[in-house]
Amino acid sequence: MTQRVVVTGASSGIGAATVRRFAELGWDTVAVARREDKLRALAAETGAHVIVCDVTDEDAVARMADEVRATGGASGLVNNAGGALGTESVETALNDEWRRMFEVNVIGLRNVTAALLPVLREATLAAPAADAGAAADGVDAEHGWASIMNLTSTAGLAAYAGGGGYNAAKYAAHAVTEVLRLELAGEPIRVMELAPGLVHTEEFTLNRLRGDAAAAVKPYENVTPLTAEDVARVLVGAFEQAPHVNQDLIVLRPVAQSSVFNTHRGPLAARG
Ligand SMILES: NC(=O)c1ccc[n+]([C@@H]2O[C@H](COP(=O)([O-])OP(=O)(O)OC[C@H]3O[C@@H](n4cnc5c(N)ncnc54)[C@H](OP(=O)(O)O)[C@@H]3O)[C@@H](O)[C@H]2O)c1
Repeated sequence: MTQRVVVTGASSGIGAATVRRFAELGWDTVAVARREDKLRALAAETGAHVIVCDVTDEDAVARMADEVRATGGASGLVNNAGGALGTESVETALNDEWRRMFEVNVIGLRNVTAALLPVLREATLAAPAADAGAAADGVDAEHGWASIMNLTSTAGLAAYAGGGGYNAAKYAAHAVTEVLRLELAGEPIRVMELAPGLVHTEEFTLNRLRGDAAAAVKPYENVTPLTAEDVARVLVGAFEQAPHVNQDLIVLRPVAQSSVFNTHRGPLAARG
């Protein structure tokens, strides 16, 4: 049986790279986002099943889950849709942007998780996928397994000035991930979290800085950041582990970034 995974925020950046990586490794994929043209282009390349859906719209998410079930179900979910808006201080921030960040990074994650959990459970009732590693490892081969991966951020683990609303939203997504793992204890469903540091994707910083292209290149100057493909390889690698192995929290940074506050600019060189 081929494994099938739903990836939200698949129209660009880390989500699109994740769909490509899953497809390369033989997984069936369902690509979810709001921009249909981008999803269709990705589908032409990868064979992904496309579902146009705003994850903050509960009714649309329910319809998306129905379509996932009707077209073959899923044993994997990647909650990747999200993003940042603004770099203002707490004092000067725009509440509307904070609400939108909370809506997509937290409520959206909850909407999709709640709607797809019954579908993921159905996958656990089926015989394990041949490539899922359960039988090979001598682990319980009587049932299938399911996996959830939430994309948070190092901004969900360490606060920084100007991070306000994004920090708050990603800390919340981190907390929700931990709660979910506790609530699903006893079920063959692993709950994982990937918290990347600096990743150079085309749209993330551009959106954060409200389309200011000149400012949006600055964080990536004189440094080798992670690429979307780097993140996708690690993310999909976690799904490829034997299904009883749960990588609870993966923190992923470029070597040049030793913490949220320390990004080395310029060449890296051994101290002689
Ligand atoms: N880039 C970084 O440095 C970095 C670092 C750490 C964590 N992250 C996190 O990693 C994830 C992906 O980031 P990225 O860099 O790949 O950014 P990105 O290219 O801006 O991707 C964000 C994706 O989310 C989708 N999305 C946004 N709002 C949505 C909604 N309401 N409903 C459905 N889809 C929605 C967007 O598609 P549509 O507009 O088509 O809907 C897009 O595909 C985000 O959660 C981000 O917070 C990024």
